[in-house]
Amino acid sequence: MTPHGSTDALEVALTNDVLVVHGGSPLQGRIRVRGAKNLVSKAMVAALLGDSPSRLFDVPKIRDVEVVRGLLGLHGVKVSDGQENGELVFDPANVESASTDQINVHAGSSRIPILFCGPLLHRLGHAFIPDLGGCHIGPRPIDFHLQALREFGATVDKTPEGLHLSAPNGLHGTKFALPYPSVGATEQVLLTAVMAEGVTELRNAAVEPEIIDLICVLQKMGAIIKVHTDRVIEIQGVPKLHGYTHRPIPDRIEAASWAAAALATRGHVEVLGAQQADMMTFLNVFRSVGGEYEVTDTRPPRLGDAGQEGGIRFWHPGGELHATALETDVHPGFMTDWQQPLVVALTQARGLSIVHETVYEQRLGYTEALNSMGANIQVYRDCLGGTPCRFGRRNFKHSAVIAGPSKLHAADLVIPDLRAGFSHLIAALAAEGTSRVYGVDLINRGYEDFEAKLADLGAHVERP
Ligand code: EPU
Repeated sequence: MTPHGSTDALEVALTNDVLVVHGGSPLQGRIRVRGAKNLVSKAMVAALLGDSPSRLFDVPKIRDVEVVRGLLGLHGVKVSDGQENGELVFDPANVESASTDQINVHAGSSRIPILFCGPLLHRLGHAFIPDLGGCHIGPRPIDFHLQALREFGATVDKTPEGLHLSAPNGLHGTKFALPYPSVGATEQVLLTAVMAEGVTELRNAAVEPEIIDLICVLQKMGAIIKVHTDRVIEIQGVPKLHGYTHRPIPDRIEAASWAAAALATRGHVEVLGAQQADMMTFLNVFRSVGGEYEVTDTRPPRLGDAGQEGGIRFWHPGGELHATALETDVHPGFMTDWQQPLVVALTQARGLSIVHETVYEQRLGYTEALNSMGANIQVYRDCLGGTPCRFGRRNFKHSAVIAGPSKLHAADLVIPDLRAGFSHLIAALAAEGTSRVYGVDLINRGYEDFEAKLADLGAHVERP
């Protein structure tokens, strides 16, 4: 069988990066999520701004963390493992320049390097940023980031090897409105404004829980940041920040991915660490399609009682799931990263489900692979929903109609990106028969120990 989605199937097939999935059994058991990938990596960058060591707990062992750790190390930040499992300690006492060749080792590996701009400009007066990586889910421009940095007074020189930035006259607070509430650009402004001279006012900012948690980190370091209503963030620059100690919010994308896996396989998964407050929108959709969940609160340890970590139990109650209509959106909307795993479960719901993707223009390509497994998903260029969207007029296939329920059958699949990859995996677990999923290593970018977690949930998977 030719792996679906492969442009050069043979090349991929020759690699050992394949997981054999014997599907058709429900996932059952308990797993734990650690600190959110999309906060942890940014908190690590923030450690550069301190004049004393920082400690971050519950750091997952994922590729993005390794990349940021490598880049921090190149810039003189000593990163060491702390006493607790998952604890990292950052010592920024000797921040120094790194050569472009050294930095370029990390070219194409992640999107986080762009967030080094502000902190490096503050610490060194200049920065070099390699080509960015990350998932191929649209062009993913960085124009908002660069525009914001220029507003602060940075000069940006784009060269074939990467971006060279400098701030000959220092960085100064500014009033700036984002054309769209971009998560990364908001973080760029925060990480730059906290030590820029004067006040910065950012309008149309993103306010995802990971951003609020980054603000908590920066506030612990000595920053003065006010989050006003209507997506306005005001930052009073300070001349000096110190280290922080922080336990990050848990990964709500990973939690929702396992929840969707439980639903698609008619299983029952308890996700320790999952937090209701950050997942409210997901939980509403989960319930409206017929999934059930129970939130368990954390019981702190007391004398004679070891306590218990809370989380959320997700399960398929039996019977049929119901179709739904949803639109992805910025917070507090339905996260774009929840979309792909949930769509696999929607292939099992009776009726027509509609998904309007309004955050990324090319995040539905993975549905082709689901169709090769027996799903019935049509993608459209029209906006199938009422949320104002930038893609309708620009001819992108960004809406999907899922007709269900469909019996999924096994297939050979090639993982295209992180979240779509996890959805391929869920589909293989839900399908009858044996699938081969190529390129699974990509999943390690964002899901810690996913193979061990699959084993804990009773999945029948193996490396050939
Ligand atoms: N955008 C621009 N110009 C910019 C920046 C963004 O046009 O300069 C556009 C993007 O092309 C996109 C939209 O704005 O259409 C939103 O992008 P955003 O900047 O919010 O995304 P990001 O910061 O690059 C983070 C997460 C993504 C998550 C999005 C949305 C990290 C490392 N990545 O990306 O997570 O989907 O926010 O919530 O935090 C993932 O974890 O798999 C992932 C892709």
